[in-house]
Amino acid sequence: MAPFPMQFDFDPVPERRGTDSQKWQKYAGRDVLPLWVADMDFLSPPAVIAAVQARAAHGIFGYARPVKSSVDAFVNALAARYGWSIDPSWLVWLPGLVVGLNVTAQAFAGPGDEVLTVTPVYPPFMSAPKNSGRVSVQVPLRLDPVACRWEIDWTALERAVTPRTKLFILCNPHNPVARVWRRDELARLGDFCVRHNLVLCSDEIHCDLILDDLPHVPTALLGDAIARRSITLMAPSKTYNMPGLGISVAIIPDATLRAHFVRATAGIVAEVNTLAYTACEAAYRDSEPWRQGLLAYLRGNRDFLLDFVARELPGVTVEAPIEATYLAWLNVSATQLPDPIAHFEAHGVGLSDGAFFGVPRGSHVRLNFGCPRVTLTEALTRMKRALAAR
Ligand SMILES: Cc1ncc(COP(=O)(O)O)c(C=O)c1O
Repeated sequence: MAPFPMQFDFDPVPERRGTDSQKWQKYAGRDVLPLWVADMDFLSPPAVIAAVQARAAHGIFGYARPVKSSVDAFVNALAARYGWSIDPSWLVWLPGLVVGLNVTAQAFAGPGDEVLTVTPVYPPFMSAPKNSGRVSVQVPLRLDPVACRWEIDWTALERAVTPRTKLFILCNPHNPVARVWRRDELARLGDFCVRHNLVLCSDEIHCDLILDDLPHVPTALLGDAIARRSITLMAPSKTYNMPGLGISVAIIPDATLRAHFVRATAGIVAEVNTLAYTACEAAYRDSEPWRQGLLAYLRGNRDFLLDFVARELPGVTVEAPIEATYLAWLNVSATQLPDPIAHFEAHGVGLSDGAFFGVPRGSHVRLNFGCPRVTLTEALTRMKRALAAR
């Protein structure tokens, strides 16, 4: 373990204005705090920064392939955290996770075939099939008012299957409803895919960001029948705040499925860049104390946010616990704002529009609380003012 401090300070506000940040450029020249796209306003772990600096100092940036220590770092992290033993031959490295969603849709559904998912969901789950002439079929999640949690509507899901359904894409944990799927739900979903002969693509990019005392269950761990039809997509980018480096990995235990997937990447998917492999290794191997510090900080932000919303934001509700991610899914329909995004922007806060996640415009917004507490406090205070100014 590299000699980095065990205490990490997430309070400082880094200056991102005037940089290449998409998140901050959107509101360049305006006093709008951007809490939209999912990257965090924290420095990456010190070990990642140091590793990238050392790699840059080498000064040669040729075509890259991961060295054994990079693969080991990832494989060992999955074994230690989730008890998942992965054969390195199952891994296909990709320059981003959305790439993996698009490749999966092309590889495992034909033109006109249907790709199922449950909504609201991260927009590329719906756009990836459409990008290549496949059909996205969406089944809304159901809010269980007693359990206070988002549930898969199993009856609706069964009804949505047709002879053209080929693939199910799952978000585990789920963006934007911040739900950690339980083992029994995943087993039921796996059984559903087996019965209908669907490939199961599980996007687990948020799995290292579970805030409550709940285990992450990799979907592919639920038995051979499920593993054989599974594509699991993971990445260090959300957790270690390095999405700009562009790296993710598909874990495909079945050799035939893997060959099919790799064929669909041919000539289209670029190589992963060398700095990304270096950062990925330092993230998974050397940054566990930092991740624990991050989780504690995000937990504090989440609790602060829940309290503030309940007390100070009339008409805004968080309908179910935020179990994972740094994303809050806020129901704003009771505010009766015709355009909540424009209204909050006009009062200095940039949020994500729920409509992009597959719900009616005006019903929900998504707020990214992966930022220093002072930024979050200011943003929520501005939202309070915005509501008072309705
Ligand atoms: C569920 C999910 N998948 C994928 C991504 C993006 O991955 P990448 O930037 O590696 O394409 C995000 C980003 O927010 C996400 O929430």
